[in-house]
Amino acid sequence: MISVQDLRFSYTRAPFLTDISFQVETGSSLGFLGPSGAGKSTLQKILIGMLRHYGGQAQVAGLEARDADSAFYERIGVAFEYPTLYEKLTGRQNLAFFGSLYQNKQLDISALLDSVGLLPSADQKVAAYSKGMRTRLNFVKALLHAPDILFLDEPTSGLDPTNAHVIKQMILAEKQKGRTILITTHNMQDATELCDQVAFIVDGKLRALDTPHHLIMRKAATEVAYTYLEDGREAQGTCALAATGEDALLRRLMAENKLLTIHSREQTLGDVFMDITGRVLA
Ligand SMILES: Nc1ncnc2c1ncn2[C@@H]1O[C@H](COP(=O)(O)OP(=O)(O)OP(=O)(O)O)[C@@H](O)[C@H]1O
Ligand SMILES: [Mg+2]
Repeated sequence: MISVQDLRFSYTRAPFLTDISFQVETGSSLGFLGPSGAGKSTLQKILIGMLRHYGGQAQVAGLEARDADSAFYERIGVAFEYPTLYEKLTGRQNLAFFGSLYQNKQLDISALLDSVGLLPSADQKVAAYSKGMRTRLNFVKALLHAPDILFLDEPTSGLDPTNAHVIKQMILAEKQKGRTILITTHNMQDATELCDQVAFIVDGKLRALDTPHHLIMRKAATEVAYTYLEDGREAQGTCALAATGEDALLRRLMAENKLLTIHSREQTLGDVFMDITGRVLA
């Protein structure tokens, strides 16, 4: 559904995005992860035909993104990083207005508002909405015309855990319906839960692309951390879970029943990101 080959882009004369290649199959989800300013939103804007002076190929739904036309926009739904809503219109009026721009049959507005807990505020002006309410309205706005491909730029940013959960469940439900989904996020947990593939982006370059599971396994070094008493003071040791038998200290402490605590610590996608890119997220 999406095929990107040797994509290059620059806002100025200096190259910014370079040598980006990846594919996304119909019905699967890809997450872009990377620190602020890495180029995630830029990449997304290229794919939706907003930035057209790129080099290389970026094909979405069979069309080169720079040739995006109105038929293309019927097929994609976009939730921008910063909600794009009319302040003076109510939530319901916003959806009715944006829906009217499409020829596709629209979903039921009350049902959409209800799905993200906005039905009680449906007839309030967006000017009176909180940040999280705007994020939720912005999200359902992208679903309104039942598009085949969803581009979601930080869909859970600024949401409390309950609302973030609701949005994540809705994204998974869209995936169940066979939608292809691109998500930009700083949030490792979201990426692990929502994405079939994860792409690390740093300084305009793709640094890794794999399933969250493979990325985590690639480092395969679940650690064991243990504490014990030494000269009356608490001390700590660590070793790889795969090598506990070779840790002489740990073996002695176990034999002498001197361990105070012991626990394993699985790698997270965040650890792997740091390992591969040398950078911390967010
Ligand atoms: N319209 C523009 N003109 C010039 N430079 C831009 C423009 N938009 C973005 N940039 C620059 O491109 C870089 C990447 O921006 P982008 O918005 O793609 O980052 P991002 O990965 O989405 O970051 P964040 O996580 O903060 O949203 C930044 O250095 C930014 O200043
Ligand atoms: Mg961004």
